[in-house]
Amino acid sequence: MAPIVDIHTHMYPPEYIDLLSTRTDLPLVRTFPSSPDPRLILLESELPSLQRALADPSAPLPGRSLTKHFTSLPAKLSFMARHGITTSVVSLANPWLDFLSPEDAGPVAKRINESFEAMCVAHPGKLFFFGALPLINTPGTESAQDQTQQTILTAITHLTTLPHCRGIILGTSGLGAGLDDPRMLPIFTSLAAAQLPVFLHPHYGLPTSVFGPRADDYGHVLPLALGFPMETTVAVARMFLAGVFDAVDGLRMILAHSGGTLPFLAGRIESCVVHDAGLAAAAAKAAGKGDGEGERVRKRRTLWEVLRQQIYLDAVVYSDVGLKAAADATGAGAERLMFGTDHPFFPPVGEKADGADDEEWESVQWNVDAVIRAFGEGSKEAELVLGVNAATVLRLDV
Ligand code: URA
Ligand code: ZN
Repeated sequence: MAPIVDIHTHMYPPEYIDLLSTRTDLPLVRTFPSSPDPRLILLESELPSLQRALADPSAPLPGRSLTKHFTSLPAKLSFMARHGITTSVVSLANPWLDFLSPEDAGPVAKRINESFEAMCVAHPGKLFFFGALPLINTPGTESAQDQTQQTILTAITHLTTLPHCRGIILGTSGLGAGLDDPRMLPIFTSLAAAQLPVFLHPHYGLPTSVFGPRADDYGHVLPLALGFPMETTVAVARMFLAGVFDAVDGLRMILAHSGGTLPFLAGRIESCVVHDAGLAAAAAKAAGKGDGEGERVRKRRTLWEVLRQQIYLDAVVYSDVGLKAAADATGAGAERLMFGTDHPFFPPVGEKADGADDEEWESVQWNVDAVIRAFGEGSKEAELVLGVNAATVLRLDV
Protein backbone atom coordinates (compact mmCIF):
# COMPACT_ATOMS: atom_id res chain seq x y z
CA MET A 1 0.00 0.00 0.00
CA ALA A 2 1.28 3.45 -0.87
CA PRO A 3 1.96 5.58 2.21
CA ILE A 4 -0.16 8.54 3.22
CA VAL A 5 2.10 11.26 4.55
CA ASP A 6 0.85 14.43 6.24
CA ILE A 7 3.45 17.17 5.89
CA HIS A 8 1.25 19.99 7.21
CA THR A 9 0.32 19.08 10.77
CA HIS A 10 1.03 21.06 13.90
CA MET A 11 1.48 20.80 17.64
CA TYR A 12 2.21 23.10 20.55
CA PRO A 13 4.40 21.38 23.17
CA PRO A 14 3.23 21.93 26.78
CA GLU A 15 6.13 24.32 27.37
CA TYR A 16 4.83 26.57 24.60
CA ILE A 17 1.30 26.63 26.03
CA ASP A 18 2.74 27.48 29.46
CA LEU A 19 4.49 30.44 27.87
CA LEU A 20 1.28 31.63 26.18
CA SER A 21 -0.68 31.29 29.40
CA THR A 22 1.49 33.91 31.10
CA ARG A 23 1.11 36.51 28.34
CA THR A 24 -1.13 39.55 28.08
CA ASP A 25 -0.27 40.36 24.43
CA LEU A 26 -0.82 38.16 21.39
CA PRO A 27 -0.33 35.25 21.17
CA LEU A 28 -1.98 34.18 24.42
CA VAL A 29 -4.02 31.53 26.17
CA ARG A 30 -6.90 32.49 28.50
CA THR A 31 -9.43 30.55 30.50
CA PHE A 32 -13.05 31.69 30.71
CA PRO A 33 -15.61 30.46 33.27
CA SER A 34 -18.06 29.48 30.52
CA SER A 35 -15.64 27.14 28.72
CA PRO A 36 -14.07 23.83 29.84
CA ASP A 37 -11.12 24.26 27.44
CA PRO A 38 -8.85 27.32 27.56
CA ARG A 39 -9.01 29.61 24.53
CA LEU A 40 -6.11 30.11 22.15
CA ILE A 41 -5.91 33.64 20.77
CA LEU A 42 -3.40 34.01 17.98
CA LEU A 43 -4.59 36.49 15.39
CA GLU A 44 -4.90 40.25 15.45
CA SER A 45 -8.42 39.85 14.06
CA GLU A 46 -9.36 38.03 17.29
CA LEU A 47 -8.53 40.99 19.53
CA PRO A 48 -11.92 42.77 19.44
CA SER A 49 -13.72 39.60 20.54
CA LEU A 50 -11.10 39.02 23.27
CA GLN A 51 -11.73 42.49 24.65
CA ARG A 52 -15.49 41.99 24.59
CA ALA A 53 -15.22 38.60 26.33
CA LEU A 54 -12.96 40.02 29.04
CA ALA A 55 -15.47 42.81 29.72
CA ASP A 56 -18.64 40.73 29.44
CA PRO A 57 -18.76 37.06 30.57
CA SER A 58 -21.84 36.42 28.39
CA ALA A 59 -20.09 37.56 25.18
CA PRO A 60 -19.05 34.90 22.63
CA LEU A 61 -15.66 33.36 23.40
CA PRO A 62 -12.65 34.66 21.47
CA GLY A 63 -10.14 32.70 19.40
CA ARG A 64 -10.46 28.94 19.33
CA SER A 65 -10.83 26.13 21.80
CA LEU A 66 -7.46 24.79 22.91
CA THR A 67 -8.42 21.11 22.72
CA LYS A 68 -6.09 18.22 23.44
CA HIS A 69 -5.50 18.00 19.68
CA PHE A 70 -3.18 21.00 19.90
CA THR A 71 -0.89 19.54 22.54
CA SER A 72 -1.33 15.81 22.95
CA LEU A 73 0.74 13.21 21.13
CA PRO A 74 -1.81 10.42 21.74
CA ALA A 75 -4.46 12.69 20.15
CA LYS A 76 -2.19 13.23 17.11
CA LEU A 77 -1.63 9.47 16.79
CA SER A 78 -5.38 8.71 17.06
CA PHE A 79 -6.10 11.35 14.43
CA MET A 80 -3.51 9.73 12.15
CA ALA A 81 -4.96 6.24 12.71
CA ARG A 82 -8.53 7.45 12.12
CA HIS A 83 -7.57 8.98 8.77
CA GLY A 84 -5.17 6.29 7.55
CA ILE A 85 -2.13 8.55 7.78
CA THR A 86 1.04 6.45 7.78
CA THR A 87 3.50 9.18 8.71
CA SER A 88 3.35 12.79 9.85
CA VAL A 89 5.99 15.50 9.59
CA VAL A 90 4.94 17.56 12.59
CA SER A 91 5.73 21.24 13.07
CA LEU A 92 5.31 23.87 15.77
CA ALA A 93 2.25 25.99 14.90
CA ASN A 94 2.22 29.75 14.38
CA PRO A 95 3.45 32.18 15.52
CA TRP A 96 6.40 29.96 16.43
CA LEU A 97 9.00 31.89 18.43
CA ASP A 98 8.37 35.26 16.77
CA PHE A 99 7.30 36.97 20.01
CA LEU A 100 10.14 35.83 22.28
CA SER A 101 12.93 38.02 23.58
CA PRO A 102 16.38 37.67 22.00
CA GLU A 103 17.64 35.98 25.18
CA ASP A 104 14.85 33.40 25.33
CA ALA A 105 14.48 32.49 21.66
CA GLY A 106 17.63 30.33 21.31
CA PRO A 107 17.15 28.18 24.44
CA VAL A 108 13.39 27.78 23.84
CA ALA A 109 14.00 26.70 20.22
CA LYS A 110 16.53 24.13 21.43
CA ARG A 111 14.16 22.66 24.00
CA ILE A 112 11.19 22.58 21.63
CA ASN A 113 13.21 20.94 18.85
CA GLU A 114 14.51 18.36 21.31
CA SER A 115 10.99 17.62 22.48
CA PHE A 116 9.85 17.08 18.87
CA GLU A 117 12.84 14.77 18.32
CA ALA A 118 11.93 12.76 21.44
CA MET A 119 8.35 12.32 20.17
CA CYS A 120 9.67 11.03 16.85
CA VAL A 121 12.13 8.64 18.48
CA ALA A 122 9.24 7.08 20.41
CA HIS A 123 7.33 6.34 17.16
CA PRO A 124 9.82 5.15 14.55
CA GLY A 125 8.69 5.57 10.96
CA LYS A 126 5.50 7.34 12.06
CA LEU A 127 6.78 10.75 13.03
CA PHE A 128 9.33 13.21 11.68
CA PHE A 129 9.42 16.95 12.26
CA PHE A 130 10.18 20.37 10.84
CA GLY A 131 12.27 22.28 13.38
CA ALA A 132 11.58 25.78 14.69
CA LEU A 133 14.20 28.52 14.39
CA PRO A 134 14.72 31.29 16.96
CA LEU A 135 13.69 33.98 14.48
CA ILE A 136 12.13 36.84 16.39
CA ASN A 137 10.10 39.84 15.30
CA THR A 138 11.94 42.59 17.11
CA PRO A 139 15.64 41.89 17.26
CA GLY A 140 16.34 45.61 17.96
CA THR A 141 19.68 47.25 17.21
CA GLU A 142 22.07 46.15 14.50
CA SER A 143 24.30 44.31 16.93
CA ALA A 144 21.26 42.61 18.48
CA GLN A 145 20.27 41.54 14.97
CA ASP A 146 23.74 40.11 14.36
CA GLN A 147 23.43 38.21 17.63
CA THR A 148 20.01 36.88 16.60
CA GLN A 149 21.42 35.80 13.28
CA GLN A 150 24.21 33.91 15.06
CA THR A 151 21.68 32.24 17.37
CA ILE A 152 19.73 31.10 14.31
CA LEU A 153 22.81 29.67 12.62
CA THR A 154 23.62 27.78 15.83
CA ALA A 155 20.05 26.44 15.90
CA ILE A 156 20.41 25.17 12.32
CA THR A 157 23.59 23.32 13.30
CA HIS A 158 21.73 21.84 16.27
CA LEU A 159 18.91 20.64 13.99
CA THR A 160 21.41 18.74 11.84
CA THR A 161 22.20 16.61 14.90
CA LEU A 162 18.55 15.59 15.41
CA PRO A 163 17.96 12.47 13.28
CA HIS A 164 14.23 13.00 12.70
CA CYS A 165 14.42 16.64 11.61
CA ARG A 166 13.50 16.96 7.93
CA GLY A 167 13.49 20.72 7.46
CA ILE A 168 12.30 23.82 9.24
CA ILE A 169 9.02 25.69 9.52
CA LEU A 170 9.34 29.39 8.78
CA GLY A 171 7.02 32.38 9.03
CA THR A 172 7.23 35.37 6.71
CA SER A 173 8.66 38.03 9.00
CA GLY A 174 12.27 36.82 9.02
CA LEU A 175 14.40 39.06 11.20
CA GLY A 176 11.58 41.62 11.30
CA ALA A 177 11.99 42.84 7.72
CA GLY A 178 10.67 39.92 5.67
CA LEU A 179 12.38 37.15 3.76
CA ASP A 180 13.95 39.41 1.12
CA ASP A 181 16.06 41.01 3.85
CA PRO A 182 19.74 40.49 2.89
CA ARG A 183 20.31 39.36 6.48
CA MET A 184 18.26 36.27 5.69
CA LEU A 185 20.71 35.14 2.99
CA PRO A 186 23.24 33.47 5.36
CA ILE A 187 20.32 31.69 7.00
CA PHE A 188 18.94 30.40 3.69
CA THR A 189 22.49 29.45 2.62
CA SER A 190 23.02 27.51 5.82
CA LEU A 191 19.67 25.72 5.46
CA ALA A 192 20.50 24.79 1.86
CA ALA A 193 23.94 23.49 2.88
CA ALA A 194 22.33 21.40 5.61
CA GLN A 195 19.76 20.11 3.08
CA LEU A 196 16.93 21.31 5.28
CA PRO A 197 13.93 22.38 3.18
CA VAL A 198 11.91 25.35 4.40
CA PHE A 199 8.20 24.82 5.06
CA LEU A 200 6.88 28.37 4.62
CA HIS A 201 3.74 29.10 6.61
CA PRO A 202 1.74 32.31 7.10
CA HIS A 203 0.57 33.87 10.34
CA TYR A 204 0.09 37.64 10.04
CA GLY A 205 -2.22 37.72 7.03
CA LEU A 206 -3.30 41.14 5.83
CA PRO A 207 -3.93 44.20 8.00
CA THR A 208 -7.41 43.81 9.54
CA SER A 209 -8.41 47.19 8.05
CA VAL A 210 -8.45 45.49 4.63
CA PHE A 211 -11.43 43.44 5.77
CA GLY A 212 -13.55 46.46 6.64
CA PRO A 213 -15.56 47.58 9.65
CA ARG A 214 -17.73 44.45 9.63
CA ALA A 215 -14.76 42.05 9.67
CA ASP A 216 -15.70 40.80 13.11
CA ASP A 217 -19.05 39.52 11.78
CA TYR A 218 -17.23 37.17 9.44
CA GLY A 219 -15.18 35.32 12.07
CA HIS A 220 -12.02 33.63 10.83
CA VAL A 221 -13.06 33.39 7.19
CA LEU A 222 -11.33 36.43 5.71
CA PRO A 223 -8.05 36.24 7.66
CA LEU A 224 -7.63 32.49 7.11
CA ALA A 225 -9.06 32.01 3.63
CA LEU A 226 -7.63 35.20 2.10
CA GLY A 227 -5.15 36.85 4.48
CA PHE A 228 -2.99 33.74 4.97
CA PRO A 229 -2.60 32.87 1.27
CA MET A 230 -1.88 36.49 0.31
CA GLU A 231 0.81 36.69 2.98
CA THR A 232 2.55 33.63 1.54
CA THR A 233 2.20 34.95 -2.00
CA VAL A 234 3.73 38.32 -1.14
CA ALA A 235 6.59 36.74 0.85
CA VAL A 236 7.63 34.45 -2.00
CA ALA A 237 7.20 37.17 -4.64
CA ARG A 238 9.52 39.41 -2.62
CA MET A 239 12.12 36.63 -2.37
CA PHE A 240 11.87 36.07 -6.11
CA LEU A 241 12.23 39.78 -6.94
CA ALA A 242 15.22 40.10 -4.60
CA GLY A 243 16.96 37.21 -6.36
CA VAL A 244 17.05 34.97 -3.27
CA PHE A 245 16.36 31.83 -5.29
CA ASP A 246 19.26 32.61 -7.64
CA ALA A 247 21.58 33.52 -4.77
CA VAL A 248 20.79 30.25 -2.96
CA ASP A 249 20.00 27.78 -5.68
CA GLY A 250 20.18 24.87 -3.23
CA LEU A 251 17.27 26.33 -1.25
CA ARG A 252 14.14 24.18 -1.37
CA MET A 253 10.83 25.53 -0.11
CA ILE A 254 7.51 23.83 0.56
CA LEU A 255 4.76 26.44 0.50
CA ALA A 256 1.73 26.10 2.74
CA HIS A 257 -1.79 26.14 1.32
CA SER A 258 -0.61 25.24 -2.18
CA GLY A 259 1.48 28.38 -2.45
CA GLY A 260 -1.23 30.86 -1.46
CA THR A 261 -2.24 32.37 -4.77
CA LEU A 262 1.08 31.90 -6.58
CA PRO A 263 -0.12 29.25 -9.07
CA PHE A 264 -2.89 31.63 -10.14
CA LEU A 265 -0.84 34.83 -10.10
CA ALA A 266 2.61 33.72 -11.33
CA GLY A 267 1.76 34.78 -14.89
CA ARG A 268 0.73 38.22 -13.76
CA ILE A 269 3.87 38.60 -11.63
CA GLU A 270 5.98 37.61 -14.65
CA SER A 271 4.24 40.12 -16.91
CA CYS A 272 4.75 42.90 -14.38
CA VAL A 273 8.45 42.04 -14.01
CA VAL A 274 8.98 42.22 -17.76
CA HIS A 275 7.10 45.51 -17.99
CA ASP A 276 8.71 47.15 -14.99
CA ALA A 277 11.06 49.81 -16.26
CA GLY A 278 12.49 50.47 -12.82
CA LEU A 279 13.52 46.85 -12.31
CA ALA A 280 15.05 46.69 -15.75
CA ALA A 281 16.94 49.96 -15.31
CA ALA A 282 18.34 48.84 -11.96
CA ALA A 283 19.48 45.59 -13.51
CA ALA A 284 21.05 47.44 -16.43
CA LYS A 285 22.91 49.72 -14.06
CA ALA A 286 24.10 46.80 -11.95
CA ALA A 287 25.35 45.10 -15.11
CA GLY A 288 27.10 48.33 -16.16
CA LYS A 289 25.56 48.08 -19.61
CA GLY A 290 23.31 50.31 -21.64
CA ASP A 291 21.55 47.25 -23.01
CA GLY A 292 21.17 45.73 -19.55
CA GLU A 293 17.44 45.74 -19.78
CA GLY A 294 17.03 43.31 -22.65
CA GLU A 295 19.87 41.16 -21.36
CA ARG A 296 18.43 40.83 -17.89
CA VAL A 297 14.99 40.00 -19.16
CA ARG A 298 16.47 37.35 -21.45
CA LYS A 299 18.78 35.77 -18.87
CA ARG A 300 16.88 35.77 -15.61
CA ARG A 301 15.01 32.71 -14.44
CA THR A 302 11.27 33.19 -14.59
CA LEU A 303 9.02 32.60 -11.63
CA TRP A 304 7.73 29.54 -13.47
CA GLU A 305 11.25 28.13 -13.57
CA VAL A 306 11.78 28.82 -9.88
CA LEU A 307 8.46 27.13 -9.09
CA ARG A 308 9.52 24.04 -11.03
CA GLN A 309 13.07 23.88 -9.72
CA GLN A 310 13.05 25.00 -6.08
CA ILE A 311 9.47 24.92 -4.84
CA TYR A 312 7.08 22.27 -3.60
CA LEU A 313 3.48 23.01 -2.65
CA ASP A 314 1.37 21.32 -0.04
CA ALA A 315 -2.05 20.10 -1.13
CA VAL A 316 -4.02 21.92 1.56
CA VAL A 317 -6.32 23.79 -0.81
CA TYR A 318 -9.63 21.89 -0.35
CA SER A 319 -10.55 21.80 -4.04
CA ASP A 320 -9.40 20.01 -7.17
CA VAL A 321 -9.55 23.32 -9.07
CA GLY A 322 -6.79 24.87 -6.95
CA LEU A 323 -4.88 21.60 -6.80
CA LYS A 324 -4.74 21.24 -10.59
CA ALA A 325 -3.42 24.79 -10.83
CA ALA A 326 -0.81 23.95 -8.20
CA ALA A 327 0.25 20.85 -10.17
CA ASP A 328 0.47 22.82 -13.42
CA ALA A 329 2.44 25.63 -11.82
CA THR A 330 5.11 23.42 -10.31
CA GLY A 331 5.71 20.75 -12.90
CA ALA A 332 4.49 18.50 -15.61
CA GLY A 333 2.39 16.43 -13.25
CA ALA A 334 1.86 15.96 -9.58
CA GLU A 335 5.48 15.43 -8.61
CA ARG A 336 5.88 18.59 -6.51
CA LEU A 337 2.70 18.40 -4.42
CA MET A 338 2.48 16.96 -0.89
CA PHE A 339 -0.65 16.08 1.09
CA GLY A 340 -1.37 17.82 4.39
CA THR A 341 -4.19 18.24 6.88
CA ASP A 342 -3.41 21.40 8.88
CA HIS A 343 -4.41 19.36 11.96
CA PRO A 344 -5.54 20.51 14.51
CA PHE A 345 -6.86 23.78 13.09
CA PHE A 346 -9.94 22.60 11.18
CA PRO A 347 -11.74 20.16 13.53
CA PRO A 348 -15.01 18.35 12.84
CA VAL A 349 -17.88 20.72 12.18
CA GLY A 350 -21.36 20.81 13.65
CA GLU A 351 -22.84 18.63 16.37
CA LYS A 352 -19.95 16.25 16.81
CA ALA A 353 -17.26 18.91 17.28
CA ASP A 354 -16.37 17.81 20.79
CA GLY A 355 -13.00 16.26 20.04
CA ALA A 356 -13.74 12.55 20.58
CA ASP A 357 -10.89 10.43 19.27
CA ASP A 358 -12.67 8.49 16.56
CA GLU A 359 -14.32 11.34 14.70
CA GLU A 360 -13.76 11.94 11.06
CA TRP A 361 -12.42 15.41 10.25
CA GLU A 362 -14.25 16.58 7.14
CA SER A 363 -11.41 18.97 6.34
CA VAL A 364 -9.11 15.96 5.82
CA GLN A 365 -11.59 14.26 3.52
CA TRP A 366 -12.00 17.44 1.45
CA ASN A 367 -8.28 17.46 0.74
CA VAL A 368 -8.27 13.72 -0.07
CA ASP A 369 -11.28 14.24 -2.38
CA ALA A 370 -9.48 17.09 -4.12
CA VAL A 371 -6.55 14.76 -4.87
CA ILE A 372 -8.89 12.04 -6.17
CA ARG A 373 -10.88 14.44 -8.35
CA ALA A 374 -7.75 16.08 -9.72
CA PHE A 375 -5.72 12.93 -10.44
CA GLY A 376 -8.04 9.89 -10.24
CA GLU A 377 -8.53 7.42 -7.41
CA GLY A 378 -5.61 4.99 -7.12
CA SER A 379 -3.68 6.77 -9.89
CA LYS A 380 0.09 7.08 -9.77
CA GLU A 381 -0.29 10.86 -9.44
CA ALA A 382 -2.66 10.51 -6.49
CA GLU A 383 -0.16 8.21 -4.78
CA LEU A 384 2.62 10.72 -5.39
CA VAL A 385 0.64 13.54 -3.81
CA LEU A 386 -0.75 11.51 -0.91
CA GLY A 387 2.63 10.27 0.27
CA VAL A 388 5.28 9.13 -2.21
CA ASN A 389 6.54 12.65 -3.01
CA ALA A 390 6.99 13.50 0.67
CA ALA A 391 8.63 10.15 1.42
CA THR A 392 11.13 10.70 -1.40
CA VAL A 393 11.85 14.40 -1.03
CA LEU A 394 12.00 14.37 2.77
CA ARG A 395 13.79 11.00 2.97
CA LEU A 396 11.18 9.42 5.20
CA ASP A 397 11.68 5.80 6.12
CA VAL A 398 8.06 4.75 5.70
N1 URA B 1 -3.94 27.04 10.35
C1 URA B 1 -2.77 27.28 10.99
O1 URA B 1 -1.79 26.59 10.76
N2 URA B 1 -2.72 28.28 11.85
C2 URA B 1 -3.77 29.06 12.14
O2 URA B 1 -3.64 29.97 12.96
C3 URA B 1 -4.98 28.79 11.49
C4 URA B 1 -5.03 27.78 10.59
ZN1 ZN C 1 -0.88 25.26 9.22
